[in-house]
Order: sequence, then C-alpha cells, then structure tokens
Amino acid sequence: MRKVTALYPGSFDPPTNGHLDLIERGAKIFEELIVGILRNSEKVPMFSLPERLEMLTTLTSHLKNVRVEAFHGLMVEYAKSIDATCVLRGIRAVSDYEYELQMALMNRKLEPTLETVFMMPADKYSYVSSRLVREVAQVGGPVHGLVPEVVVEKLRQRLEPAYKFHDEVAGEISRTTGVREKRRKKI
Ligand code: PNS
Repeated sequence: MRKVTALYPGSFDPPTNGHLDLIERGAKIFEELIVGILRNSEKVPMFSLPERLEMLTTLTSHLKNVRVEAFHGLMVEYAKSIDATCVLRGIRAVSDYEYELQMALMNRKLEPTLETVFMMPADKYSYVSSRLVREVAQVGGPVHGLVPEVVVEKLRQRLEPAYKFHDEVAGEISRTTGVREKRRKKI
C-alpha cells in the first residue's frame, strides 16, 4: 500500500479545540499528517508565526505521525514540496461549504493530482472558530473549552488588560447583585 501524506493547511490564529480534533482524526487515517501554518504577509495575526508553531508543536507532540511546519505562497506548491497527495480541511457547518468548495476546486485547477478531503470535527466544536475565539478573548471573555489550556494561557498573557478589566467588571456586578439579594431578603 502507498503511504499517504496529507497536508492540513490553515492560519491557526490561534489553534482551537476544533483544529486539534481534526488533527487527531486525520492522524488516524493518514500515514503522515503535516500541519502547515500559513505565513500571511497581508494580515497581521494575533500570534506570530513562531508562537503558532510552538503552540501547535506542543499540542501535537503525542501524535508521532504529525509534523508542524510553516509555509508561504501557494498551498499546492508547498504540498508538492512535501510530497503530500491530499489536503485535509474541516467543515463545521453548511456555511463553511461554499468557501471550502471554491477553494478545493481552485486548488484542483492549480494541481489536479492533489485531492482535498473534508472531515467534520466533533459536533461540540461546530461553532468554534479562531475568529470568534479572538473576538471573545479581546474583550476578556472566557474561552475555556474552546481552545486548549496552553492557548487559554497565551490569550490571557497577550490580552491581560482586557481580562483584568473584564474580571473587575464581573466582580463589581456580582458584588452589586449580592447587595440587591441581601436587600430583597430583608424585605
Ligand atoms: O485557516 P484558514 O484561514 O481558513 O486557511 C486558509 C488557507 C491557509 C488554507 C488558504 O488561505 C491557503 O491555502 N492560502 C495559501 C495561498 C493559496 O494557495 N491560495 C489559493 C487558495 S484557493
């Protein structure tokens, strides 16, 4: 049997539990899985490339057939350079389908021998995206359960003022509610 190397490309800014779920599923069916982090010069990411590389390398260290690398330029060219014959992408909901279909067909046009394989993450992650995680974290909201704990910690460090402000406001609200509760009991 021929060994199949698959490429799982993405921005991973930051890596989520949905990404990890997909990596674990992919590692079970492909002999080799390369997680390719896009170095995108157009967008300013929340986490630098070395930070995303470090996070994903740590998070996948238990998977012996998974390697994490960075790439730039055309994904199909990078796939060729690592001898990948398959591209792995996740589809969470119907809303992902249109974009993913367009991308898969464009990639097929660019490199007809490269097959795109879609997998679904666990349904509990079907609403989790890096963009929403960033949005919640940027205002100090809780992201436990959405991203691995190392990423929770990284987000807290990166967005310390937002978390501090959020925690202070939350504390203030619970103190005020507590006072109201006491007053109500008296009445
Ligand atoms: O995590 P994302 O942002 O959904 O990943 C998108 C990614 C990195 C897979 C896509 O933007 C990509 O492959 N970029 C590399 C440039 C390229 O090949 N573009 C043509 C795509 S049809």
